[in-house]
Amino acid sequence: MQTLYVHPLPVRIWHWTNALGFIALIVTGLQIRYVGLIGLMPFKTAVSLHNWIGFVLIANFFVWFFFYLFSDKIKVYHPELSAMKHFRASFRQLQYYGYGIFKGDPNPHHVSAYHKFNAMQSMTYQVIMLLLVPIQFYTGVLLWDVKRFSGMVELFGGVRVVDTVHVLLFIFFVAFIFIHPYLASLGHTPTAHFKAMFTGYEEVEEETGRDSIA
Ligand code: HEM
Repeated sequence: MQTLYVHPLPVRIWHWTNALGFIALIVTGLQIRYVGLIGLMPFKTAVSLHNWIGFVLIANFFVWFFFYLFSDKIKVYHPELSAMKHFRASFRQLQYYGYGIFKGDPNPHHVSAYHKFNAMQSMTYQVIMLLLVPIQFYTGVLLWDVKRFSGMVELFGGVRVVDTVHVLLFIFFVAFIFIHPYLASLGHTPTAHFKAMFTGYEEVEEETGRDSIA
């Protein structure tokens, strides 16, 4: 095995702050929604924590965004320009997760410094980071002060629509918080990718200089 530096420090700081923040937002969000059923903390504390953590994560998002925008590491997110190639690679990856992995097949994706994500990962992460997370933050800010942003709230169809979008994305992120770590545990050891997100270094096969990543 040899090591390859794949997760730069700003990405690691953003990632673990974001992960902890999302868990806290889910817990406080549940407390806000099920105020009579869950008694983890007073309603007011849950609202206040939810708002503060939300704003911290919005600021934190820009660490990820500007790091990639102003570094050549953005290449890890460059899309495969041939749609055919992209979908074939995604399908192979899906087949591996759903079937091949249980037969002991090798991971079809091979990691290199500028190719740390498989086709499914790079597409999913981009949709999450450039679409779903910003929509979640945006609807959150509108709900934080519906009076101040009444014009914008009306433009989106009223507070019910804004709230429904926020809650549907909440459900998505709850599912994501389970599925994402599961997929991240499918490295050459169950903890390999987690360690890499802490140290920055991923272990790859010595002979080829390449390895698989979840
Ligand atoms: C318990 C929570 C979480 C754990 C244990 C976890 C674990 C990991 C690990 C091990 C990686 C490394 C690469 C990989 O295998 O995909 C990773 C990457 C990533 N995770 Fe998470 N994650 C968590 C929460 C989240 C949340 C809440 C989000 C977004 C809302 C997120 C978004 C991402 C993204 C975008 C990457 C790629 C980062 C890059 O640009 O290099 N993760 N995660």
